[in-house]
Amino acid sequence: MNKPSPIEQSEPAQATGTVPPPLAMLAELTHRCPLSCPYCSNPLALSGKEGELDTNEWIDVFRQAADIGVLQLHISGGEPASRRDLVELVEGAVQAGLYTNLVTSGIGLTPRRMDELEQVGLEHIQLSLQGTNAELADRIGGYKGGFDRKMQVAAEIAKRGIPLTLNAVMHRHNMDDLERTIEMALELGARRLEVACVQFHGWALKNRAALMPTRQQTDKVKQQVAEAQARLRGVLAFDFVPPDYYADFPKACMGGWGSTGLNITPDGTVLPCHVAQSIPHLEFDNIRQTPLRDIWYDSTAFNAYRGTDWMPEPCTSCERKEIDFGGCRCQALLLAGDANAVDPVCSLSPDHGRITDILAAEMAGEAPDFTYRKL
Ligand code: SF4
Ligand code: FES
Repeated sequence: MNKPSPIEQSEPAQATGTVPPPLAMLAELTHRCPLSCPYCSNPLALSGKEGELDTNEWIDVFRQAADIGVLQLHISGGEPASRRDLVELVEGAVQAGLYTNLVTSGIGLTPRRMDELEQVGLEHIQLSLQGTNAELADRIGGYKGGFDRKMQVAAEIAKRGIPLTLNAVMHRHNMDDLERTIEMALELGARRLEVACVQFHGWALKNRAALMPTRQQTDKVKQQVAEAQARLRGVLAFDFVPPDYYADFPKACMGGWGSTGLNITPDGTVLPCHVAQSIPHLEFDNIRQTPLRDIWYDSTAFNAYRGTDWMPEPCTSCERKEIDFGGCRCQALLLAGDANAVDPVCSLSPDHGRITDILAAEMAGEAPDFTYRKL
């Protein structure tokens, strides 16, 4: 599953000396998924069904989240429709007072199930799009018939008037189809199009050389998004996550660590971002043992990179430090070998040469075949 970007896109909280409440929570109901996308950002080791929080445990988490101020709930996976109790869980979240967004490939959403989801008050659906035609989409998702099924689900969403965001995960193999992707978003009645270029975490890292776009593709897509934003203002909103290896500055990952959002894994582990478990020196609490409020405000993991006090130079003296919060901690670990380092995506980072080396090495030859993930 490619995670929704609203948390990444939201304005970072200012470092005020007090910890603000979280605005958004991503609930990864399950790691089970019928698709096997090469860009999946979930970790290499997935949780099995037996370890998943049960219905009552999830509903309790939703109540705790609402109590501490969470407004938006992104219900994700894996494929959340793989959970038989999906309708019950959405109902529990709605009753807790959360705005509910279902992040789905559409596989497993029958018309009857959608009726039930609508009846219990599901407020928004974010439907992933692997490609603009069946051949490409089914090859990328590793699931034959997935595109046709998705189009049927999109029609059912439109019929019911449920607000729709189309989440187009873009990379070397589909970036040149952006114009058609925009047309499809309009045809399907989406209100928002997320142009989410692949972030290389989790399983996606295995496919970095296969998925990395060219600089030419990247420049073109930025121009196309800017042009479409202006042309379709008031008709279709855009969220754009550009390919960060070609950026001059990093993004404020999660809007700043522990500032606006949190993630819960299928087994109840509470994380500041969905890749945080890759950072070996941090310990993460589980909702089965510790109340969410205590984890958000007091846990060592959430406090490790909050605000700006932890930063090294040149971040400490940089005017962007409360804009990007030093970038992504997981990427700093991955590329610089140190989660406390400046994100090497930053052109001011002493490790920025790693990015140029990777691009030179991975763009030198033909893109290799995909390595698909299987559960
Ligand atoms: Fe951001 Fe640090 Fe780079 Fe400044 S030096 S732009 S704060 S990552
Ligand atoms: Fe960016 Fe973890 S994925 S901080």
